[in-house]
Amino acid sequence: MVENRDPAVRVDRGFWIVTALIAVLSLLAIVVCYLFPITHYLPEAVVPANEIDSLFRFLSAGGSVVYIIVIGYLLYFSFAFRGRRGDAPNAVGLPIRDNNRLEFWWTAVPTIFIIVLAVFSVYIWRQINLGQPNNGLVMESIGHQWYYDFRYPKVKGTVPNEMHLPLNVPVTLHVTSGDVIHSFWVPGMRLKADMVPGLINTLRFTPLNAGRYPIICTEFCGVQHGIMNKQLVVIEDRKSFDSWLAATQSKNKNLSDNPSAASASTVNLSGGVVSAGQQTFGQKCAACHSATGSFSQRIVGPGLKGVLHDPAHPKLVDGDPATPENVAKIVHNGYTGDMGNMPNAQTNGLSDKDIANLVAYLATLK
Ligand code: CUA
Repeated sequence: MVENRDPAVRVDRGFWIVTALIAVLSLLAIVVCYLFPITHYLPEAVVPANEIDSLFRFLSAGGSVVYIIVIGYLLYFSFAFRGRRGDAPNAVGLPIRDNNRLEFWWTAVPTIFIIVLAVFSVYIWRQINLGQPNNGLVMESIGHQWYYDFRYPKVKGTVPNEMHLPLNVPVTLHVTSGDVIHSFWVPGMRLKADMVPGLINTLRFTPLNAGRYPIICTEFCGVQHGIMNKQLVVIEDRKSFDSWLAATQSKNKNLSDNPSAASASTVNLSGGVVSAGQQTFGQKCAACHSATGSFSQRIVGPGLKGVLHDPAHPKLVDGDPATPENVAKIVHNGYTGDMGNMPNAQTNGLSDKDIANLVAYLATLK
């Protein structure tokens, strides 16, 4: 028995005219996406701006081409195969089933595009996160309902709402939240990171243009979310930044490093569970500290292999002897000093039990 074959469907001249039109429009869209003067509207205020723009141009060009192809043929086919006056009332159109060649290509082409986009994104992400020097200013921002706190090296306490940065100095900014999810968004600098309680996200950039930039919260965080958009970034030259920092240091010199510092000595270290500590280390510490590298093998912070057993380093970063209690103190209070900043336990979302587990785990690293 002979298979029922699909009726031969021939595309007419209109199809090729539309195809040519789609090709021309797609080409035009690509040219516009690549020639559009983004920096005329949004100056390149930070170092990864160029990389972010190139990713944005690629995505816009690819997205525009997909849009033009889909919408172009959709409009054409809905016109070409429209119901006509005089069609039978129960007309159902051509009994077309499938076309393997066509289906192969409309699966393969988008798949290739998505893979290229993913590789390109990871490449840019690596450049932003790993390609920048780590020796500049390391600081933190903590989101609150409904304001931002900033912590600077060697400055006690926090600086609310106004973030000051020196020009042309690489910045590593760790952001997190003290209550609900906020966002640290500086549209003028193409920078954005969510501020999530218990999680530290990191932005690396180098400011290139002096000026004031709004920092805007873009995660709905409660009734006054809308006022979390008046915070400004001030970029200054190194000298005025240093004098601002000195003035802030002396203004804050009587603050305690951390309002709950006094309770550090009360962290009960007995009953710490090594396996739980190892798990917590993986979640909270491993982004900045290696468990297999010694003190000098830094990721962001020092390596912690042998932190309690290394004769070459009998003292911790704060100068105290390497004892479990003193390690617990640093984890609890955080650290601010020559090596940079480590957020305190509250910011890191660590309970006293977590600290006891972590110290038990760190004691096993030899
Ligand atoms: Cu914070 Cu919205």
